[in-house]
Amino acid sequence: LNTINTNSYPVLIGKKCWGEMSRFIEQKFSGSKIIVVADSNTLLHCYPLLEDNCTVFLSAEVIEIPEGEENKNIDIAIGIWETLLQLEADRSSLIVNLGGGVVSDIGSFAASTYKRGIKFINIPTTLLAQVDASVGGKTGIDLNGIKNQIGTFCNPDAVFINPEFLNTLPAPQLLSGFAEVIKHALITDKNYWKYIISENPTEITDWEKLISQSVIIKNKIVTEDPYESGIRKLLNFGHTIGHAVESYSLETDNPLLHGEAIAIGMICESYISSKLCGLKEPELLEISNYISGLFEPYWLDETIYHKLLQLMMHDKKNENGKIYFSLIESIGSGIYGVSCNTDIITESLDFYKSITVTE
Ligand SMILES: NC(=O)c1ccc[n+]([C@@H]2O[C@H](COP(=O)([O-])OP(=O)(O)OC[C@H]3O[C@@H](n4cnc5c(N)ncnc54)[C@H](O)[C@@H]3O)[C@@H](O)[C@H]2O)c1
Repeated sequence: LNTINTNSYPVLIGKKCWGEMSRFIEQKFSGSKIIVVADSNTLLHCYPLLEDNCTVFLSAEVIEIPEGEENKNIDIAIGIWETLLQLEADRSSLIVNLGGGVVSDIGSFAASTYKRGIKFINIPTTLLAQVDASVGGKTGIDLNGIKNQIGTFCNPDAVFINPEFLNTLPAPQLLSGFAEVIKHALITDKNYWKYIISENPTEITDWEKLISQSVIIKNKIVTEDPYESGIRKLLNFGHTIGHAVESYSLETDNPLLHGEAIAIGMICESYISSKLCGLKEPELLEISNYISGLFEPYWLDETIYHKLLQLMMHDKKNENGKIYFSLIESIGSGIYGVSCNTDIITESLDFYKSITVTE
């Protein structure tokens, strides 16, 4: 069992975290009402594990929300608040968010606002939520289909990460979360990169080691810059182009998962790094060959380039109409705040095509 202490709460990682979780809840919340927020899938696949391993959950209430990003919205949040009222939850109650990033974002948002904020803990069940959403204190919902427009910064009391949950996670979801792991290595840690490229994500058995390393990296960055005024921007590597491709794909019959789009973004932005930040050609090829070997190729037709560029114009890092990127100078060394012209962005999309399309 691995414990990583953030500024305000512990993250416990390991197959043996059940015992610690029971003790934690019994010590801090004995006599409190415990309310689990789960989605339809995590209720089916993950909740039984909790009931089997932690007796405190035998008397818990459960709020089930429908699965999927389209449900991370204000109507579902209102549903959670109303159910909390019906269950007579008060400020001594504990919310337990059991699920991927959708459940932890909306459950934490509901908890952080209900009666001006009640305590919550997170039990992330997807790789993405374990390595990414588990630290940083961001909660939120989408508004009119635009992601994360409403939310709070609010920390849980604790996070318990059990890699066993990954056993039931569909393979594409696992790989999607792995994109963020790759990003953590590329922006901060060459040794970690060497370790991950020696592993096949579908055959990894020691998830504890990998999740711990990613949580350590993310925690270090968000502790230094909680509100994203500087170094936290590094976490956006791959995301300027990745988000544009993701948004575009969601309007088509072939929608991409978040990490699948970020994988494309990381290849393109590594190319831009080689043009603007001195990333050496062999490292560019090492990165792009590794990532393109893991993810299915995605067809980027030249006729959609202008749409992608338009979408990039809405990126949150932009200033004065310029597109700013978080890039890498070498593997393990990120840099943020690099502006890039549209010609190089276009070339980077061509580069992605050149390495993924086999004639
Ligand atoms: N707050 C943050 O810092 C932060 C960071 C990254 C992402 N996010 C948010 O996270 C969301 C994406 O998270 P996600 O990728 O975890 O998506 P998700 O929560 O939608 O989970 C993906 C799918 O897997 C299912 N699932 C979850 N755990 C399972 C398990 N163990 N076994 C079987 N099925 C399981 C879910 O029901 C869902 O269908 C986005 O809304 C994103 O904005 C937040």
